Amino acid sequence: MSGAETFRASADAYDRHVGRYGAQLASALIGFSRIEPGVRALDVGCGTGALTAALVERLGAANVSGADPSEVFVEACRRRLPAVEVVVAGGEALAFGDGAFDVVLSQLVVNFMADAEGGVREMARVTRPGGHVASCVWDYAGEMTLLRAFWDAAREVDPERAAANDEGIVMPWCADGELAGLWRRAGLSEVRFGPLVVCSGYADFEDLWSPFPTGVAPSGAFCKSLDDERRAALRDAYRRRLAVDDGPFELTARAWAVVGAVRASASEDVAQSVEGDTP
Ligand SMILES: C[S@@+](CC[C@H](N)C(=O)[O-])C[C@H]1O[C@@H](n2cnc3c(N)ncnc32)[C@H](O)[C@@H]1O
Repeated sequence: MSGAETFRASADAYDRHVGRYGAQLASALIGFSRIEPGVRALDVGCGTGALTAALVERLGAANVSGADPSEVFVEACRRRLPAVEVVVAGGEALAFGDGAFDVVLSQLVVNFMADAEGGVREMARVTRPGGHVASCVWDYAGEMTLLRAFWDAAREVDPERAAANDEGIVMPWCADGELAGLWRRAGLSEVRFGPLVVCSGYADFEDLWSPFPTGVAPSGAFCKSLDDERRAALRDAYRRRLAVDDGPFELTARAWAVVGAVRASASEDVAQSVEGDTP
C-alpha cells in the first residue's frame, strides 16, 4: 500500500491521529506564509480540512477551495465546511485555471505526492504571478515526537520491516532546508523556509494509541500489519519510549515550512535560474 492510500480509511481516525496537530499547524503555516485578508486561497491535500477551516476563518468560505485525492477525506471536509468548494484531485493535476489563486498551500502533503516536483509546479501554475506557494512537512527524522517515538519503538519489535517503513528514512522531504531546494527546482523565487513547532494534549496513552490499529497513515498501516503479539510489544515499547503514565500529557511536533513566489515573467525566470539552488 502506498503512503497516499493509507489516507483512504477513516477520517475520524485521522483526526485522532496526526490530525490533532492540524489546527495549530495551520495557524502557524498561515502566519509563516504572511497571508493577508482578501486573497483567494487553495488548500492542496486538504484532508479532513484543518488548514481549509483556518483559511475560511481568515478569508471567508467564498475565497477558499480545497482538493484531495481521498474521497473519504473530501467528504469529511465538505461536511465540515459545506460552503467551500472541495474537489477530488491530486496536487499533480489540479482542475483549476492558470493563476486562479493568490496563494496555494499544502499542509503535510508533498511527501505523499507521486511526483513532488510536478505537484509543486502544478500548484505554482494555478497561482497568479507574484502570488505564493507554501507548504510544510513533518520533521519525521527528528522532533515530530509522536511519529519519531513510534518508529523507534517499531524498530525494536520488527527491525527490518520498521526500517523499510520508517518515515524518517523513506520520506524524501523531511530534513531542514530540503523543501527550499524543491521549491527552487520547481521554479519558485524569494524562497523562505523555517521550523513550525506545535503541540497536542492527550487524556492518556490509550487516547494516543487508539487510532494506530485502525491502519490510518503510514504508521497506522504498519501497526495494523503486525500480528497481535508484535502489536502488543509495539504498544509497550512505544509507551516506554514516550515515558507517559495513565494521566494526561502533551507532545510537541516540529514541521518544516517553506514559501516561495511565482515569478511574474519569463525574463524573471531566466534571471532567477542563474541564482543557484542552495537551501
Ligand atoms: C497527512 S494528510 C494531511 C491532510 C491535511 N492537509 C492536514 O493537514 O490535516 C496527507 C493528505 O495528502 C493527501 N494526498 C495524498 N496524495 C496526494 C497528492 N498526490 N496530491 C494531493 N494530496 C495528496 C491525502 O489524501 C491526505 O489527505
